[in-house]
Amino acid sequence: MNNFVYYNPTQLIFGKGQLSMLKEKAQQLGTTVLMVYGGGSIKRSGLYDKILALLSDAGCRVLELPGVEPNPRLSTVKKGIDICRQEGVDWILAVGGGSVIDASKAVAVGVPYEGDVWDFYSRKATPNGALPLGTVLTLAATGSEMNRGSVITNWDTQEKHGASTTFPTFSILDPENTFTVPRDQTIYGMSDILSHVFEQYFTHTTEIPLQTRFAESIMKTVIENAERVLANPEDYDARANILYCGTMALNGTLPVGVTTDWATHSIEHAVSAVYDIPHGGGLAIIFPKWMRYVYRENVSRFVRFATEVWNVDPTGKTDDEVALEGIAATEAFFARIGAPTRLADYQIGEEKLQVMAEKATPFGPIGNFKQLHSEDVAQILRMAL
Ligand code: NZQ
Ligand code: ZN
Repeated sequence: MNNFVYYNPTQLIFGKGQLSMLKEKAQQLGTTVLMVYGGGSIKRSGLYDKILALLSDAGCRVLELPGVEPNPRLSTVKKGIDICRQEGVDWILAVGGGSVIDASKAVAVGVPYEGDVWDFYSRKATPNGALPLGTVLTLAATGSEMNRGSVITNWDTQEKHGASTTFPTFSILDPENTFTVPRDQTIYGMSDILSHVFEQYFTHTTEIPLQTRFAESIMKTVIENAERVLANPEDYDARANILYCGTMALNGTLPVGVTTDWATHSIEHAVSAVYDIPHGGGLAIIFPKWMRYVYRENVSRFVRFATEVWNVDPTGKTDDEVALEGIAATEAFFARIGAPTRLADYQIGEEKLQVMAEKATPFGPIGNFKQLHSEDVAQILRMAL
């Protein structure tokens, strides 16, 4: 096991009816709040009205930044920074999925920074200070509600990068607020959650039984609940379990003491920077191909994955056969829940494959399980066509 320091200050407020806690939280954070949201799902679900009522009870003056795009854009973030500066905003409330939260984090760290907020994403600077941020999560996927990651797209340069920004002060997660998530977004969310676990599970670090079993528990819980939530989108317990898995998959619990990978995320970010596809959809396509490309680097880890997560019976089989059966089971699962399986599902062909391979590796080779250069990325993308 590697040395580690673990720190996570986000207060997680989870469960039915927990939105009522917003009033008290708002009173702690200040009177002028910027409420950030997406394309209107919160208005259709009624959440918008409930939140405005609670903020009004708390005595808040509410400004709004609507229209955050899925794969949130730098231009929208800059609008938010301008509002905060002009209006003297005290804190930010993100209401939505990962995109809304990520954009809000970018606004939060952009306000006190004199330079261009993109500097944080292009690795020219690191944030030093942020406005406080609270979130009301409406979609199980990214874990952004309890980590300090933020992923922003600069559409002018077709670059999509993550940065370490700021932890939310609090996040309110009521599974009922995820009942209205459409079927495709539910599938993408579950693909993203599993992918976060994969990134941290496939490692060469040894003697990490607890981290390994934590990861396997999350994977099994998602797999067990996936078809249940798709059959009945208002199944409270299935939604609650997926939601909790989403947070635990990327709140810093899994990587402690472990050398993690994250190459597949860089590859997917390059694809969505060019084609603006849903993050979880891209991951469902690319991850199994990455697995096939790299599994020989540590076959025994893939054997464990196959036997523990997918119940592959190893009797009479070589390690290679067992490992490949586990990868095939992963592919079959994604296909069974209706996730995309090929880039062609998004009308992506060979044309910009080289461009994407370069964009995936702008700061040098990616990944730790196997270091990948742009030629490797191109091969993986070719397998995904
Ligand atoms: O915009 P609205 O109208 O709200 O609709 C959204 C959006 O169209 C809709 N939606 C969300 N909650 C809903 C709902 N529709 C009905 N009912 C609800 N309750 O779902 C659509 C997708 O939302 P989005 O926020 O884009 O999805 P997600 O949470 O998957 O976030 C994806 C973004 O997060 C980044 C991705 O790259 C992508 O940009 N990531 C962020 C990470 C982080 N900060 O730690 C890590 C991830 O690996 C990921 O890269
Ligand atoms: Zn992800």
